[in-house]
Amino acid sequence: MSLIRGRFRKAADKLVAEYTVSTHFDWRLYRQDIAGSIAHAKMLARQQIISEREAEAITEGLESIREEIAQDRFQFKTELEDIHMNIEARLIEKVGEVGGKLHTARSRNDQVTLDLRLFAKEAASDTLDSLRGLQRAIVGLAEANKSVVMPGYTHLQPAQPVLLAHHLLAYFEMLQRDVDRFCDCLRRVDVMPLGSGAVAGVAYDVDRDFLACELGFSRISQNSMDAVSDRDFVLDYEAAASLCMMHRSRLAEEIILWSSQEFGFIELDEAYATGSSIMPQKKNPDIAELVRGKTGRVYGRLTAMLVTMKALPLSYNRDLQEDKEGFFDTVDTLLSTLEVFTGMVSTIRVRTEDTERALKRGYILATDLADYLVKKGEAFRSAHGIVAGLVGYAGEKGRSFAELDLNEYKKFSPLFEEDVYSISVASSLAARNVVGGTAPGQVERALATAKKLMGEAEG
Ligand code: ARG
Repeated sequence: MSLIRGRFRKAADKLVAEYTVSTHFDWRLYRQDIAGSIAHAKMLARQQIISEREAEAITEGLESIREEIAQDRFQFKTELEDIHMNIEARLIEKVGEVGGKLHTARSRNDQVTLDLRLFAKEAASDTLDSLRGLQRAIVGLAEANKSVVMPGYTHLQPAQPVLLAHHLLAYFEMLQRDVDRFCDCLRRVDVMPLGSGAVAGVAYDVDRDFLACELGFSRISQNSMDAVSDRDFVLDYEAAASLCMMHRSRLAEEIILWSSQEFGFIELDEAYATGSSIMPQKKNPDIAELVRGKTGRVYGRLTAMLVTMKALPLSYNRDLQEDKEGFFDTVDTLLSTLEVFTGMVSTIRVRTEDTERALKRGYILATDLADYLVKKGEAFRSAHGIVAGLVGYAGEKGRSFAELDLNEYKKFSPLFEEDVYSISVASSLAARNVVGGTAPGQVERALATAKKLMGEAEG
């Protein structure tokens, strides 16, 4: 007999069964489902709602089912709809009628959200581990190339010299905000919903705090209707994942640019590049491109879930079953992205020949020339105009600033003196000695702070 079709005389239509079934994806919740059920059985016994002996039989049955699923020996049945019913039916098959007592004081509505919360907690803490791994890789690459200078870009035009380490540490900052957001996810998902039942709460003397403690939650939900229909924690993760992917995609884009022949700033390790099937000379940054591509997919999952939720009346509605595939896919995509990304970043080789060549193009020290005039008394706005004229002049002559003689400088401003030739990439960097700036001392300090943060995360 079916466990859920008690009042119906007809069996579900085959198409309907196929349409509503979720076992092919929610089987992934089996460990969480069984952990939740074992805690529930233990609580029922403590509260004398079932006997100790019954709780033991249920627990043993559930443990052996966990083995069956883990070892791929479990027969999932479509007509049983989902992972919860499959496990319960198997339990009854194994331990007899006593298995039917497990669902006392519980509904699939509070059960499924418990399972998903447990899953989300694990996902968020795995994500935090991976984020820290990537932070270490970024800091490692920055440290290994501490003295490398490259153009800093605005509008993708060379703007001012920066240390490569400074550029990389910008991504460390983004990662740190990602870490914050996933910590926040963890804090908010940490609410135990059992006891909410189907909608109104359960009519038994349950001990919800005991359940929370057994299952590692620090709080219990305060409104049963909210608890069975709340999926904010899924959205929290998906939103954090979207921002996180956006950050990875930005660096992926730079890696794609930098590894092009036009930039030539880096070389990807062969293990993280692919060849072309027809052009033997190619070494393509496919991993970075896929990271960029998969970002769209993660945004899509977030959007889908927001739309699923937007017009749901309280409380549980079957629409909520649509939460899982997108969530699982988001977690899988993000975790695998972080893993390959970390490998790719840690094996990057920086090509200083080309970063140095790039610094020679584009009058990258123009701001420094303007600052020079300002220090000699010119107002910044007119200094800017003077240097703009100088850039035009030098450009026409096809010469760099260093190649102009002092008389030529003086045509633009009498304030120019011999010391204008001491303006260099090094002086430009050193001048930006402000917190958050690219002066070597500041970057050194930022690196130390980053390492300290990672040390704290480990300790
Ligand atoms: N498979 C369902 C889900 O994912 C479980 C809860 C079903 N509850 C119900 N009342 N039909 O949401």
